[in-house]
Amino acid sequence: MSKIKACIFDLDGVIVDTAKYHYLAWKRLANEMGFDLTVEQNEQLKGISRMASLDILLGIGKKVFDDGEKQALASKKNTWYREYIQQMEPDEIFPGVIEYLNAVKGHGMKTAIGSASKNAMTILEQLGIVDYFDSIIDGNKAKKAKPDPEVFVKAAIELGIAPQNCVVFEDAKAGVEAAKNGGMYCVGVGSPEILGMADIVVSGLHEMNIAMLDF
Ligand code: BG6
Ligand code: MG
Repeated sequence: MSKIKACIFDLDGVIVDTAKYHYLAWKRLANEMGFDLTVEQNEQLKGISRMASLDILLGIGKKVFDDGEKQALASKKNTWYREYIQQMEPDEIFPGVIEYLNAVKGHGMKTAIGSASKNAMTILEQLGIVDYFDSIIDGNKAKKAKPDPEVFVKAAIELGIAPQNCVVFEDAKAGVEAAKNGGMYCVGVGSPEILGMADIVVSGLHEMNIAMLDF
């Protein structure tokens, strides 16, 4: 029988295709500052906090700003990002997500969101999927950025499940590292080249079934 009693899901890039909107908004900010952000460079921004992402972006563009200016830049990016996500429809939930959530819950497992995003509740509410999760830990509740495991550890504590009985679903390298740093199993969602540290890698939750959690 599987040891897994809880599934903790990253949100952006695992449950819903918001990663593309983060990319669009960061790229727009970079372009406004006179440089570009490639898809490859964008991988470094995934999974980490807004301010940590901005620092990496400014490093790529070799730009230096003081704290006040950085707050203004982050806020501008967030305004654009929120404009994009407010247009989002439930069909932007990735294929197989709702079916998989129903399957794990049907097997008596707990479910949680573990996201670095301060916009997580807005997204879950807009998509009408808040009630699928027993615990939601987001960027307002966790202070340390992935690869620190704080966000997942807090979710496990709220669920009352030991880390070694949890599996995390992640699309970001920093997120996979966070799960492993927290002593949890990890399913990478994306490419094996980027997420090689995960226990298994799938291209999306549509590829998952309960038997695959038999770690
Ligand atoms: C993570 C994303 O989920 O949330 C990152 O992968 C993003 O790309 C981070 O920077 C913070 O999101 P937000 O919505 O608080 O700016
Ligand atoms: Mg993600």
